[in-house]
Amino acid sequence: MRRIPLVAVAAAASIVLAGCGEDDGDGSQAGASNEVEVFTWWSEGGEKAGLDGLVQVFEQQYPDQTFVNGVVAGGAGSNAKNVLASRLEQGDPPSTFQGHAGGELRDYIAQEQIQDVGHLYEEEGWNDVFPEEVVSLLTEDDAIYSVPANIHRANVVWANPHVLKNAGVSQPPDSIDAWLEDLQALQDNGVKAPLAVATDWTQVHLFETVLIADLGPEAYNGLWTGETAWDSAEVTRAIEDYAALMEFTNGDRAGLDWPDSNQYMISGRAAYTVMGDWSYAGFEEAKLKPQKEYIWFPVPGTDGVFDFLADSFTLPVDAPNAEGTENWLRTVGSAEGQEAFNTKKGSIPVRTDADPQAYGEYQQEAMQDWQSDTIVPSLAHGAAAPLGWLEEITSAIGEFSSSKDTGKLQEALVAAAETYTGSG
Ligand code: GAL
Repeated sequence: MRRIPLVAVAAAASIVLAGCGEDDGDGSQAGASNEVEVFTWWSEGGEKAGLDGLVQVFEQQYPDQTFVNGVVAGGAGSNAKNVLASRLEQGDPPSTFQGHAGGELRDYIAQEQIQDVGHLYEEEGWNDVFPEEVVSLLTEDDAIYSVPANIHRANVVWANPHVLKNAGVSQPPDSIDAWLEDLQALQDNGVKAPLAVATDWTQVHLFETVLIADLGPEAYNGLWTGETAWDSAEVTRAIEDYAALMEFTNGDRAGLDWPDSNQYMISGRAAYTVMGDWSYAGFEEAKLKPQKEYIWFPVPGTDGVFDFLADSFTLPVDAPNAEGTENWLRTVGSAEGQEAFNTKKGSIPVRTDADPQAYGEYQQEAMQDWQSDTIVPSLAHGAAAPLGWLEEITSAIGEFSSSKDTGKLQEALVAAAETYTGSG
């Protein structure tokens, strides 16, 4: 395993946590029911299939516990995160919720909303099977906050081979410039909007991959520590490339979510979409044939870079049925749980002792890339930056979708960076 340059780790000052580890002292978990409310945004398709797989193992391992589905639909937690924030504020947490390793999780830690589960790591021997680099993203002051379920890759282009063939596009492009030429060829060939995107967060997702392509992994990492200036010429260039790509996207994007933009690509209305590898799970769930009905390659200019995120399950402070939650977490970290979940979710297991043969063609490739690529944290999926920073970037990208004003976008990005790193 390569070292993860974890910029996100640098954040947060030392904090004192309420109710670490054991009973939270106010009696809320004593005598609680055996229901375990699991809060996610995995409501349909491959995402639901993954969750269902995990639930099946949980029910086998802990038959006295009852899974309660606290799902709030909307890709990347676009609705769920608001619901969760207000529930946490009101002292009404679910038994567990899914958070992203890195910047996002550090927000919950800093706000004293989640508890140390380090004792489970000892009991279950997880320090031997989870890579240290991932665990360090969950660790603060020797306490470990959450159990990682998977590793997803964000910088993937999914493409329709028939549409490409019809336009005479035969090779994956190796740079954004080359990609823009292919997009033009596709448009000239009658594909009006060859690059499918959806609502704001999917545009942020596309934007982060262009930043990686144009800046390279090191300077991209520097964006989150203050080492790379947001008003630099490199960022200007990335914004211009992003603007050029957006010219090839569908105008109805604001009303769509990621399964819709995937469908645009699959149906041939578009040639490409950029999305995380939960897409693979959706394609598998729909029984589409890899290499025939869809192909994949790294976002042009990001070959050799693995833009990563990890879904990690937490033990909230005052979690109802904390004992049941701990059992859920044991399932999440178990070999059976990781396999049942990840084989269906499109992601790869965090456990290093997993059997690659159990996984699909795309995932076996991703497992190899995870070992050999340079790893960078995803912005759109909570690894690179705290939630507030992501929200500011998302609203700037959302505004850009209609204004198309590159100067204004860069100004907004510089202002957001000033707030979160003290430098633009
Ligand atoms: C991510 C999450 C993934 C997947 C995706 C689309 O934020 O980590 O597991 O669910 O959103 O909804």
